[in-house]
Amino acid sequence: MKAVVFHGVGDIRLDDVSEPKIEEQTDAIVRLTASAICGTDLHFVRGTMTPMVEGTILGHEGVGIVEEVGRDVRNLKPGDRVVIPSTIACGYCSYCRAGYYAQCDHANPNGSDAGTAFFGGPQTSGPFHGLQAEFARVPFAHVGLVKLPAGMTDDQAIMLSDIFPTAYFGADIAGIDDGDTVAVFGCGPVGQFAIASAKLLGAGRVIAIDTVESRLEMARVQGAEIIDFNAEHPVEAVKRLTGGIGVDRVIDAVGVDAVRPESGPAAKESKQQKAEFERELEKIAPEQNPDGENWVPGNAPSQALAWAVESVCKAGTISIIGVYPEQARTFPIGQAMNKNLTIQMGNCHHRKYIPHLIDLVQSGAVDPSKVLTEREPLTDVIEAYKAFDTRQPGWVKVELKPSGQTAAGA
Ligand SMILES: NC(=O)c1ccc[n+]([C@@H]2O[C@H](COP(=O)([O-])OP(=O)(O)OC[C@H]3O[C@@H](n4cnc5c(N)ncnc54)[C@H](O)[C@@H]3O)[C@@H](O)[C@H]2O)c1
Ligand SMILES: [Zn+2]
Ligand SMILES: [Zn+2]
Repeated sequence: MKAVVFHGVGDIRLDDVSEPKIEEQTDAIVRLTASAICGTDLHFVRGTMTPMVEGTILGHEGVGIVEEVGRDVRNLKPGDRVVIPSTIACGYCSYCRAGYYAQCDHANPNGSDAGTAFFGGPQTSGPFHGLQAEFARVPFAHVGLVKLPAGMTDDQAIMLSDIFPTAYFGADIAGIDDGDTVAVFGCGPVGQFAIASAKLLGAGRVIAIDTVESRLEMARVQGAEIIDFNAEHPVEAVKRLTGGIGVDRVIDAVGVDAVRPESGPAAKESKQQKAEFERELEKIAPEQNPDGENWVPGNAPSQALAWAVESVCKAGTISIIGVYPEQARTFPIGQAMNKNLTIQMGNCHHRKYIPHLIDLVQSGAVDPSKVLTEREPLTDVIEAYKAFDTRQPGWVKVELKPSGQTAAGA
């Protein structure tokens, strides 16, 4: 079968690989009808989230049809249409039972303290082969697959695999109360769903910060008040728009590949921090392999975090869902401490949120396919990665069609 394979930092290829087989009685094999490219995949290729094992199939978003189930998968049968939660979890340990699927005690072969197990990730996450492929093996399929209702299209369902649940989790742990003003840093696909989720949870105002015009425009269409950090100092603008108080909650939907402003009033201050950011990046991404414009790590890993702490009001909450690797050590702890901030963060407990989000989509409260801008056949995946990596105008979220069909819907 065809699959996207990690060969090294800056080196991914569409390869012919062998099809997966049932290995445990709790496994299922799924034939994928949709996959997608996530900002997290970009961290791997840029070298800011390591170490990846050569030969790992990438991708952690998937929708498809169950082909085969192991003996201990009792709630599904071949032919069922399913969405695959990105994180892998056993469903029976105390963490899973409490909804902390991303901290499952059993799923990660590196042990209970190794962190989140997920598809297509670094050595520390399993590693498990991912979902940018024609078929996938899904461990613990009794919780690792969620059945889809008949009316839901692939374009909608693929957003429920990772990015909508992640953003909803980010809004949930931010503790948004009715009427709160929420700042969302980053207007990539996760940021777009963070804006939607903040509104679903009662936010009165949402302020969205990025610099990519088409992404800011999509945020504005959703009703967010937008700030371009290359035109205005985002912290000053947030303060001005909130009567000097700051926002109640911040969601960081940027992560380790944050960039620093190159123009406008924020560029001067950021230039003074250039050397510091460079030192951070050396520790985070000792191996880099850019190819022209592609696979260039962000040049200011802690920039979004610094702005988050400055933009939030006293006693406010910061929710960090942008991904940072273990080597990332920079956070303005003193400033946060002296403002009595609450900091929430982590990998999403996808399985906890997906059933509720399916209901929300079914009810018409939200149409997640509005964030989907590109549908590409798996055969064009490397070019699609490159366009998403450089944030080409209009490229917000890329769905991949493993079976070659690019028509919308199931
Ligand atoms: N916690 C989880 O479980 C989880 C799940 C999925 C994705 N993620 C993470 O969420 C983050 C966003 O994912 P995505 O797919 O939207 O990625 P993306 O790369 O498409 O989006 C990131 C956006 O941040 C913007 N940005 C860069 N520097 C900035 C700055 N200093 N201030 C404001 N905006 C800035 C970029 O222009 C871009 O639009 C990534 O770090 C990804 O790894 C986390
Ligand atoms: Zn992801
Ligand atoms: Zn578990």
